[in-house]
Amino acid sequence: MIDEILDEAAVAAAWDRNAALWTQEVRSGFDLYRELYTLPAFLNFMPSISGKQVIDLGCGEGSNTRRFAQLGGTMTGVDLSAEMIGQARAKEKEEPLGIAYEVGSFTDLSSFADEAFDCAVSTMALMDGPDLPTALNAAYRVLKPGGALCFSVLHPCFITPAIRWLTDETGAYHGLRVGRYFERTPFIEYWRFSRRSDESRRQVAGEPFAVPRFPRTLSDYINAVSEAGFRLARIEEPRPSEDMARKHEWLNRWYQHAPLVLFILAVKS
Ligand SMILES: C[S@@+](CC[C@H](N)C(=O)[O-])C[C@H]1O[C@@H](n2cnc3c(N)ncnc32)[C@H](O)[C@@H]1O
Repeated sequence: MIDEILDEAAVAAAWDRNAALWTQEVRSGFDLYRELYTLPAFLNFMPSISGKQVIDLGCGEGSNTRRFAQLGGTMTGVDLSAEMIGQARAKEKEEPLGIAYEVGSFTDLSSFADEAFDCAVSTMALMDGPDLPTALNAAYRVLKPGGALCFSVLHPCFITPAIRWLTDETGAYHGLRVGRYFERTPFIEYWRFSRRSDESRRQVAGEPFAVPRFPRTLSDYINAVSEAGFRLARIEEPRPSEDMARKHEWLNRWYQHAPLVLFILAVKS
């Protein structure tokens, strides 16, 4: 595994393997970071998409794409994983929201015309592909002038390859260690949604997700956005709400010490 080449074919294969369990767990609400923290913050951050043609880059099984459709966007979802798109299409068939899904890479949007979309959104996906500049160039091409690119990624400054929470003798979190920030060697991270109930742990067996990671620095993200031709409009490092932080110690860490995610909004000039 260590010497495995993490190209797009490997990324597609990894997400194909993750797709069934990922879909089951996301749709069961086990991704509590998404439910309580990252998605509500992203929905607040993104521009209005009502009545707009919107492409979702790396849409996965489509849960967020469906939320965007419910906000009035005419959605097209693109994902590298045929299994993920299969799950998304099955849900669309069951409960239609008028979403079109396509298997493909966000680095190659050649099946879409220039200036086909008013907005490109992407949640927690651009960090999962090996070639960010090409993806941003492709997004730029398919956006209309004035169109917005709005995406979330794990915060590159804090979710570094050597991340570790620091605790005191009582187990309370008093800081976050970052490390190897400049290291850009791709690796595979194995994990499960950790906030599952005991009951769900018994019900849903399975291997951990294997997620190819492509660490980047903050400047890699910002410079790729501007080098693609976009004007950076706003960034946000969302904090969990005080109420959520009080209710959940695991969220309180992110309230007290560091943001888990970074949001970027850029405009095609
Ligand atoms: C963490 S999941 C996020 C999925 C979805 N956006 C969400 O928030 O639930 C990352 C997704 O990015 C997709 N992905 C990775 N590289 C991609 C690429 N080059 N083109 C399209 N999708 C890609 C994966 O297949 C996977 O479905």
